[in-house]
Amino acid sequence: MRKYFLTNYFLVLFLSADSNYANQHSSIQYKMLILSSEKAVCLTQNYKTMKHLFLAVLVFGLFSCNTQNTNTQALQNQIDSLKVQLSKVYKPGFGFLMNNIQAHHAKLWFAGINENWKLAQFEVKELKEVTDEIQKYQKERKETELMSMLEPGLLEIERAVSTGDLDAFKKSYTQLTIACNECHKLTDFEYNIVKVPETSGFSNQEFKIE
Ligand code: HEC
Repeated sequence: MRKYFLTNYFLVLFLSADSNYANQHSSIQYKMLILSSEKAVCLTQNYKTMKHLFLAVLVFGLFSCNTQNTNTQALQNQIDSLKVQLSKVYKPGFGFLMNNIQAHHAKLWFAGINENWKLAQFEVKELKEVTDEIQKYQKERKETELMSMLEPGLLEIERAVSTGDLDAFKKSYTQLTIACNECHKLTDFEYNIVKVPETSGFSNQEFKIE
C-alpha cells in the first residue's frame, strides 16, 4: 500500500509539472486517477495491477494532452493567418464615401428638376446605400453616429418623388442639403459647404427624358 501511495504521489507530481496539462485537465484527471486507483485497490489490493492502471492512465493522459495542444496550435495559426488577410482587405474611407454621396446628391437634383422621377428614385436609393456603407465600414468614426441626420430629408424627398411633386422635391432637397452642412459643422468640417448644384458636373449623362 505504501508503494501504491508513493507511485500515486509521483504520478500526480509528474502530471502537474506540465503546465498546459495542469491548466486543462488537472482536477478532472486527478480525481479520475484517485477514484480509479481507490477502486482498483479495493478490488485487488494488488500493487502490480495498480501499476498497470497508472501506466494506462498516464499514457492516455499524455496522448490526449498532446492532441489537444496540436489542435489549439492549428486553430491559433488559422486565426493569425485570417487576421493578416483581413488587414489587407480594402475598406472604403469616409472621404471616399462622401465623394460618392456628393455625386448622387448632384445627380438627384438634375433628375428631380427634369422630372425624371425614375432616375430620382434611383438616386435616393443610391444615397441611402452609401449612407449604409458609411455605417458599415466606418463604425469606429464617431461622426458616423450623425449619419441619421439625413433620414428626415431623404424621407421627404422620397415622398415628393413618388408623387411627382416638383415643388415638394425642391423644398425637401434644400432640407437635405442643410442637413449635410449641419453635420459638416458638427464634425469641425464647416469649411466644406455643399449647395444645390447650378450646372451638372456630369456632361456624359442625360437627365431629361422625353
Ligand atoms: C455624419 C455627418 C455627415 C453628413 C450627414 C454628411 N457629411 Fe459630408 N463629410 C463628413 C465628414 C466627417 C467629412 C470628411 C471626411 C474625411 O474625413 O475625409 C465629409 C466630407 C464631405 C465632402 C468632401 C469630399 C472632398 O474630398 O472634398 C463632401 C463633398 C461631402 N462631405 C458632401 C456631403 C453631402 C452632399 C452630404 C449630404 C447629402 C453630406 N456630406 C453629409 C460628414 C458628413
